This record gives sequence, C-alpha cells and structure tokens, in this order.
Amino acid sequence: MELVHTVEWMRQAARQAREEGAIVGLVPTMGALHAGHLSLVRAACAACSNVVVSIFVNPTQFAPGEDYSRYPRTLDADRAAVAPLGVHYLFAPPVEEMYPPSFSTSVVVEGLSERFEGRSRPGHFRGVATVVLKLLEIVHPSAAYFGRKDAQQARIIRQMASDLALGSEIVVCPIVREPDGLALSSRNSYLDGRERAAATVLHRALATVRERVEGGERRAAPLVEEMRRKLAGEPLAAIDYAEIVNGDTFEPVTTVRGSCLAVLAAFIGSTRLLDNLSIEECNGRVTCTL
Ligand code: PAF
Repeated sequence: MELVHTVEWMRQAARQAREEGAIVGLVPTMGALHAGHLSLVRAACAACSNVVVSIFVNPTQFAPGEDYSRYPRTLDADRAAVAPLGVHYLFAPPVEEMYPPSFSTSVVVEGLSERFEGRSRPGHFRGVATVVLKLLEIVHPSAAYFGRKDAQQARIIRQMASDLALGSEIVVCPIVREPDGLALSSRNSYLDGRERAAATVLHRALATVRERVEGGERRAAPLVEEMRRKLAGEPLAAIDYAEIVNGDTFEPVTTVRGSCLAVLAAFIGSTRLLDNLSIEECNGRVTCTL
C-alpha cells in the first residue's frame, strides 16, 4: 500500500491504474477508522481491483464552533488498519493540497442540503459535496463507498453524482453497530463512561419505531412521538431532531409508504450523534433495517 500526499501523484496513480484496466474503488473518510469504515473498505476491495482510501479531515464541512480542531487524527493506526485489507493507495493530503490559498469554488446540492443536518450544521453539506466532488475528480473511481449512518450525506452525494454525470457509482453500505446497538462513529470516542451508556438511547428509540411499524403502525405522528419520548427519557440526551422522512426527498411524511427513514440526531453531553432506521414499505408489507 502506497501512502500518497499530493493531488497530482494521486491523480496520476489512479489514471495509470485505470489505463491498465483496473476497476478503481474509492472510500472517502476523515480517518479515525473504525469497523464501520473497514466494512466500506472490505466492500470496495471485494468489488474493485484497485482501492483508494482517502483520509482527510475536511475543514469546510465543520460549522463554526464545531470539533474540527479536536477531531481525532490517527494516521498511523489508520494505515495499519487498512494495509492488510488489500488497499492499494492511502491518500492523505494536507489541507493546503486540497484547499490552496486561491481556492474559491464550492458545490451545493439545493433543497436536500437545507434539511435536518443542513439546518443544524450550516454549510456542512456544501463542504461535504465540494470535497467529495474533488476526490471523485482526482481518482475517477468506478465506484465510491459511503455508510448509511450518514443517510442524508449519502443521498446528497448520489444526487450530485447523478446531476453532474460523474460516472462513478455511489454505493451505500449498511450501518455497523456495537453489540448494544450504538452505531459506530469516530465521535463515539468523545463519550465518557456515563455518556457511552446513555448513547444507546438513539438505537433504542429507533428500535421502538421498528417494533411499532412491524406491528402495523403507519401513521408518522405517533412514531415520531414515541422516538421523542424515548430520547426525552434519557437525562444525558438533548434531542436535535427526530422525524420520519421520505428516503428520496428527506421531506417529513405523514404516513409510512414506499421508502422512508426514521432519522434522528441528539447530543449526548456535548457529543452530537446521528442514527437512522430504513423502512421499506411495499403493498402493506414492511422491511425495517437498523
Ligand atoms: O463521512 C465522512 O467521513 C465525510 O463526510 C466524507 C464523506 C469523507 C467527506 O469529508
């Protein structure tokens, strides 16, 4: 596995791999890799003959006052974690390489970027879309891999890839959870012991929704109320949002029909965590995936 720090080197290496007939896969990350990231890497390695993992803590996707400066940076451990999986390139550019002083372009996926995460984190999706577009343009992968935990991000990237005819397939992989249900996130490392125990409330709230939907409930209002009640019952949790949305538009729905998501975000102490439940309804039958 080669460690690459410059855009030009990465661009040339990926171009050469494509010219030699490789199917190139890209796994964009911000590092501090956990089993969730590694599941994306494994999916990429299974489907592609040349895999690039990028590690870049992207400053433009952090809103003012967020955790950019304290976001965990663990390049050596990340390198050791992905090397045995068959990754060809670890692309870890410094900030000036991705954003030289004259950098002045950004990408906005209108509408989708303004809801939920976008409302709570102004400018977040502009930063995400811009850096992901740049990474896709550098590597030109056949496929790029993202986790379903960040469902709105994945939806926005898919929209951008389609709107701009980028030619890369956007693959969305399942959420990886701790045995007690907590979705893996690099930010879980901020939680102290009490907060870590409290953080399972996100999963518990979604599991309640799953139970109610599987029991036949299709009205969104009581499902949302149930999620909020569960979250409110945890003294260390402060709810940001909890909704049932259309999986395509991220608009709140009144009835569970077609592809929906129960989405929620909550602060556990000062750590903001996200989770979601996918609900696929077809002719009255539902499949719920946590
Ligand atoms: O999901 C993440 O880790 C980041 O938002 C991403 C997609 C790597 C862009 O910086």
